[in-house]
Amino acid sequence: MVVELATTWRDARGVPATLAPMSVPLDPTPRPVERPARPRFLRPAPSEVESDAAVGCGADAPDDADAEEARFRWTLGRPIEEVARTTSIDPRIPAAVPGFDVPFFQAGLAGYSDGPMRLVARRHGAPFCVTEALLDRTLINGGKGRRKEDPDLLATECGMGDLEDNVAADLDDHPIAGQIMGTFPEEMAQGSRLLVRMGYDVIDVNLACPVKKIKKSNRGGHFLAYPNEAIALLKAVREAVPSEIPCTVKLRRAYDDTDAMAANFERIFDAAYDLGYLWTTVHCRTVEQRYLGPAKWDFLRDLMRRKPDRIVFGSGDVWTVEDIFAMLEYTGVHAVSVARGCIGNPWIFRQARELMAGRPASQPSLLEQRQVLLDHFDLSVRLHGEKKAGRMMRKFGIKFARHHHDAQRVKSSFIGCTTVDEWHAVIRACYGDGPLTPTHARASREPA
Ligand SMILES: Cc1cc2nc3c(=O)[nH]c(=O)nc-3n(C[C@H](O)[C@H](O)[C@H](O)COP(=O)(O)O)c2cc1C
Repeated sequence: MVVELATTWRDARGVPATLAPMSVPLDPTPRPVERPARPRFLRPAPSEVESDAAVGCGADAPDDADAEEARFRWTLGRPIEEVARTTSIDPRIPAAVPGFDVPFFQAGLAGYSDGPMRLVARRHGAPFCVTEALLDRTLINGGKGRRKEDPDLLATECGMGDLEDNVAADLDDHPIAGQIMGTFPEEMAQGSRLLVRMGYDVIDVNLACPVKKIKKSNRGGHFLAYPNEAIALLKAVREAVPSEIPCTVKLRRAYDDTDAMAANFERIFDAAYDLGYLWTTVHCRTVEQRYLGPAKWDFLRDLMRRKPDRIVFGSGDVWTVEDIFAMLEYTGVHAVSVARGCIGNPWIFRQARELMAGRPASQPSLLEQRQVLLDHFDLSVRLHGEKKAGRMMRKFGIKFARHHHDAQRVKSSFIGCTTVDEWHAVIRACYGDGPLTPTHARASREPA
């Protein structure tokens, strides 16, 4: 079955979204920026490294350039443009998660996919986002990450209390999945209840993170080697979360390449649906593989042939807008998780909507790049304060540089930044400092 694509933007509760231009000030009464006498440094001192609920699931992931070398290469029987034009979303998905209107979304990306990155992605057409993995125990202990991960916090911080106002100001971070990771069923249940109270639309359990075990305790992808424990965790979360809120799970294709681990995946996968999980997102690398080597799209293709009734989202080696539609076509998954391919590249979502609408995928102009970098910086300052925002935006600047016609020079300039002022100087030197036009940003967010 197929459904018509939505032609207007709606938030998770079905409220039509009036898209405000990106350059509209978020705060109607701008406050003067206090300039400290000393430069504001962008690299953290060891003592400043924060411990919060988020955990570094992709800490050792290779840089885009290295990883793209080893990516999965696809060939299809028909042109990508045709695939895109004829693509639609399975109606079961928007029926359960209103607003999830196209078959791709922004993945959880530890260290990147915070509120500001999510809002920028949404402004460019991402219909749904996942938080980075949040540790159940830290959520329970009320850690810093809990506050920062509140999907409505940005709006609150900007003083926009009502839902309608938030939507109009484009500060609405819904629909969204809060992703939880932990070791013990009772703590996972407690953490999930907290995420529900914080307003998440979907609760996603992480059984995929390859980060080493802590004190011999399983968590994330390590559970793929222990199916009984994994299933107990899934059961505890599903029972803790009210039935009207979908639960989903992030998996890898197995712990390693042995037959025993393939059988474990199968058990956990089937159990998830039997327990009432709405979908699984399967990263088609093993836990042992971490982020190295090509993702195995053939695994997803085989899974979809064997389990056609299951809603499955695919993850792995999605670097360009073409990869989104190639994965849908080649594997038959219901939606595509865009991960490293959207870091510093929110335009991938706009391009996907353009292709679906039968238009060519447009590249961001220099002016757009500057606008988005500055908007992202502004959102980051509002959520994190200037110090952390500076550190975040240094690494985002490095990733955004790839769109610039002189990418290597811009990347080196961002790498060389040590202060917030230097970061802004790179923007002025490499992206110009003429006036920004509001209409320009609006055009970039037109729905398909
Ligand atoms: C830096 C980084 C952080 C990640 N953090 C998370 C996370 O918190 N939760 C999660 O489910 N996946 C996480 N992932 C995995 C991605 O969502 C995705 O499954 C993986 O990168 C494969 O897709 P790709 O090859 O297209 O990047 C992370 C990946 C990277 C590179």
